[in-house]
Amino acid sequence: MSQHYDLVVRGGRVVTPAGLREADVAIAEGRIAELGTIDPGRAAEVLDATGLTVLPGVIDSQVHFREPGATHKEDLESGTRAAALGGVTSVFEMPNTKPPTTGAEALRDKLDRAAGRAWTDHAFFVGGTAENAAQVAELERLPGCAGIKVFMGSSTGSLLVDADEPLETIARHARRRFAVHAEDEARLRERRDLVAGGADVAQHPVWRDPEAALRATTRITELCRRHGARVQVLHISTAEEMAVLQACKDVATVEVTPQHLTLTAPHCYAEWGTHAQMNPPIRDAAHQAALWRALDRGVVDVVGSDHAPHAASEKDGTYPDTPSGIPGVQTLLPLMLDHVAQGRLSLERLVDLVAAGPARVYNVACKGRIAAGFDADLTLVDLNAEREITRGWLASKADFSPFLGRRVRGWPVATVLRGRVIARDGEVQGQPAGRPVRFLETLGAGAA
Ligand code: DOR
Repeated sequence: MSQHYDLVVRGGRVVTPAGLREADVAIAEGRIAELGTIDPGRAAEVLDATGLTVLPGVIDSQVHFREPGATHKEDLESGTRAAALGGVTSVFEMPNTKPPTTGAEALRDKLDRAAGRAWTDHAFFVGGTAENAAQVAELERLPGCAGIKVFMGSSTGSLLVDADEPLETIARHARRRFAVHAEDEARLRERRDLVAGGADVAQHPVWRDPEAALRATTRITELCRRHGARVQVLHISTAEEMAVLQACKDVATVEVTPQHLTLTAPHCYAEWGTHAQMNPPIRDAAHQAALWRALDRGVVDVVGSDHAPHAASEKDGTYPDTPSGIPGVQTLLPLMLDHVAQGRLSLERLVDLVAAGPARVYNVACKGRIAAGFDADLTLVDLNAEREITRGWLASKADFSPFLGRRVRGWPVATVLRGRVIARDGEVQGQPAGRPVRFLETLGAGAA
């Protein structure tokens, strides 16, 4: 008897590891079972993908949700709903919540809160600190942990590791790749007066200058070389860092954000004021061109959103008291598809950056490619749809975005998580049933 499938995604153009091909995708028990021409009679349900392109589910490996501690800005339900509507099937959440995620108990608390409320699959970073530096090898092995995250420069929240000793300890003990926010704290402090007393937000990249980013990126890559550690350097914003990182592909992988690839200073500050304020800052067109060159050359491994929601009322305060951060989990894919439509990168390279790349960098089990045996996480997009990013479409509690009113070409129309359609045409479907993501290095660590 022929096999019975739970779902067949029929008639789409599919981005497979071998390239784009017309194929149906057959799904059984949450996994991809077969690719090719499938008899729809063998499926309990058929999802018509005619005219659509089927991508591996997008993995956003850098989001800040605010639960626990600041759920007026975002919680795990609203943040993952925004993700699902934006075509994202997995999120890795950062530890700078209140309290910060720095131990087993706080991680367990986040996993418990996500159960039955998260629309997407998820994992949580544990924040490295001076106190837990010697324990990172155990912490990073906890189920549901995406790895260790280190803030070398202070940003939103209290996490900071700027002294040599704890940084060295983390690099010596970490067995998995750890993620770093690379801005040099000493330099940020030295230059803080530049934005004292009512400075304009356009000074944000002057205060947090390219040198601050370069010093931290250089320091962390040298340290990783010394200790044989591996690092994912997050949200790279300068030409100079890309030159360093190109020479460090043995130890360092690289993330850029859609914000840094799309917005430019000084216009973004004139147009959006503090709504365009983030750390590291949006910089000028020359830096942005260098990010695109690095992306084109393959130096960049991942595009992550750095989704950083804040209440509009907080963002509308007076700089520099305004919080840094731009929401982006829902706009990541539309913005990047628009860059594809503009000819800035290929669709295959986009998939490499938002699915295969995060899976490779963090050693994710069974996600990131459309291949038999992998989780049936799929993002169906209409490459020709021209849409406007509107407030009504955005699900984040953060009621602002510097991308509001932007017209883009390319739009996510359906999101499939382990064989279930979780979002379609701007609405979530069913109940939140996201699960912890599994990682190759910790498969034996027990159920999350
Ligand atoms: O702009 C930022 N906002 N950069 C960060 O590193 C943290 C983030 C946040 O959590 O708000």
